[in-house]
Amino acid sequence: MSIVFLSPTGQTGGAEAALHELLAGLRQSHPSWSLRLIVASDGPLVARVEALGVPVRVLPFPRSLARLGDWGVGRGWWRRLVFLARCAGVALPALQYLRRLRHMLQADAPDVIHTNGLKMHVLGAWARPRRSAVLWHLHDYAARRPVIARLLRRNAHHCSAVIANSRSVADDARLVCGKEVPIHAVWNAVDLERFSPSGPRIDLDAISGLPAAHDLVRVGLVATFARWKGHETFLRALATLPASLPVRAYIIGGPVYETSGSQVSMGELTHLVTSLGLDGRVGFTGFVQDSSTAMRALDVVVHASTDPEPFGLVIVEAMACGKPIVASLAGGATELTEPGVNALGFPPGDVAALARCLEDLVRDGSLRQRLGDAGRSTAERYFNRRRMAGELTPIYQSLATP
Ligand code: GLC
Repeated sequence: MSIVFLSPTGQTGGAEAALHELLAGLRQSHPSWSLRLIVASDGPLVARVEALGVPVRVLPFPRSLARLGDWGVGRGWWRRLVFLARCAGVALPALQYLRRLRHMLQADAPDVIHTNGLKMHVLGAWARPRRSAVLWHLHDYAARRPVIARLLRRNAHHCSAVIANSRSVADDARLVCGKEVPIHAVWNAVDLERFSPSGPRIDLDAISGLPAAHDLVRVGLVATFARWKGHETFLRALATLPASLPVRAYIIGGPVYETSGSQVSMGELTHLVTSLGLDGRVGFTGFVQDSSTAMRALDVVVHASTDPEPFGLVIVEAMACGKPIVASLAGGATELTEPGVNALGFPPGDVAALARCLEDLVRDGSLRQRLGDAGRSTAERYFNRRRMAGELTPIYQSLATP
């Protein structure tokens, strides 16, 4: 079996962390399989995948293609026009890129091309050598994004199968890909050794420039700066907590992706902190390379996405660290959690409900312990590499030509 994986970025957001675990799982389960990765920008993913013994080549996207995103399309004719103009500007560099990618894939002639991001789904479909099957690994909803949905729909006939990271994303993919393409829901795995209750932890206060403090309960939102990750919901919920509550909050993460317009800026967030009267009570750590070191330093991990979360890797990572997680319950996130048992949940964007969960957890150390312990058991049972590799194996095998 030979598989080439295509990733649109070498940065490690959720989809790339999931890809890394997938590769680690396949490496362990099938040491004889040939696995290779092509990434469209350099970044930490490259060294981490190479460390698994999987060769990586960086074929950088031209800048215009890297920056092209569909965020904001559909909200007004002006934005649509700007988007179309940018698409026109990208056409030539994209064609040149396609030629180089096709060349690489032809030289490899893999059984399967596994694409791990929207741009790569399309480019992989166009660049595919005739005997290679294309497998789209969907990490996000496509149906509600008009441009993406149209691109995927038009190219679905090049794709032999789809993997979705949750049942919720699989349902969405059916709306886009139709009935012809088999769609498999396969949950992600997490690295249960890295994301574990014991291990190194960073000094959140020192990193955020806050004075050292004891006897505080530390709650943190761990997320990229994508607009829908709910930073505002989190900050507004904090602002409603009684001032006497011994709690300190952290925003852990930073902008990761290059697509313009899709992320909140640090300036917007610090401004909001000030306007809510939260100065000195919220620390910003910036991007933390190994988020397990931040999670272990927290007492409560918060997930606050305002849109349905396709999967919610952070939820499972927090569980694996044995930390209580408060999760915004919509989409794939509802499949991963059992509220009251291994997590607390609240409806997306519901500031008051999130504040209630936080207050309960800050006041009750035994609740934190119980949820954290149950979370670790859930992670070990359902989100291990072996389970993921076991579910993927028959899918690859069905795609490889004999
Ligand atoms: C994407 C999704 C997120 C998921 C991750 C890994 O980033 O938005 O929900 O956890 O991919 O599948």
